[in-house]
Amino acid sequence: MQPATAIVTFASTNQNKFREVESILAMRGIQASFAKIELVEIQSDSLEEIAREKAKSAYARVQKPVIVEDDGLFVDALGGFPGQYSSYVFKTIGNAGVLKLLEGKQDRLASFRSLVAFFDGNNLQLFEGKVQGRISEKITEGGWGYDPIFAPEGADVTFAELADKKNDYSHRKKALEKFAEWQLLIQNRT
Ligand code: IMP
Repeated sequence: MQPATAIVTFASTNQNKFREVESILAMRGIQASFAKIELVEIQSDSLEEIAREKAKSAYARVQKPVIVEDDGLFVDALGGFPGQYSSYVFKTIGNAGVLKLLEGKQDRLASFRSLVAFFDGNNLQLFEGKVQGRISEKITEGGWGYDPIFAPEGADVTFAELADKKNDYSHRKKALEKFAEWQLLIQNRT
């Protein structure tokens, strides 16, 4: 592991996300601090637009270089649903509801997308990470959010069952790796 050289604030209300972000960025020598703040989420069909607006409102609050993240679970057999409505769907029907919608369906393919948006008052950058996988037949133990029902390609088990190994596969890791590469490039230029 390299020593931490850059510092960035991660703004979210989700402590679980922050734990993952902190550990992924630390591996790349970037120290993340947590701003636990509620951010206004605009209504839009585009994860990109939501992430961009969230980054601007986070910067207005913390006044420091900041990253925010927006995710979506896209289930093939449901035409990409819940997608940008993942948060609402989780709060309303939850994992049990998603499994119910898939009852009797052979096609369990799905993907998880992460959009990380960085803003420092001038520069706004987006980084995307995507992982293919499938929706499990049952709700497994552990994890958070959709972790108990999403199994990434290459693992026979869900994110929840992967526990500490989740970061080896996750959409979040892929997006943050791109961010870290860009951040370190910028830093070496200055
Ligand atoms: P958000 O809009 O980024 O908060 O994410 C949308 C929904 O996806 C929320 O219900 C989150 O709990 C869920 N979610 C985001 N990332 C993950 C993950 O890595 N595992 C499981 N669920 C997630």
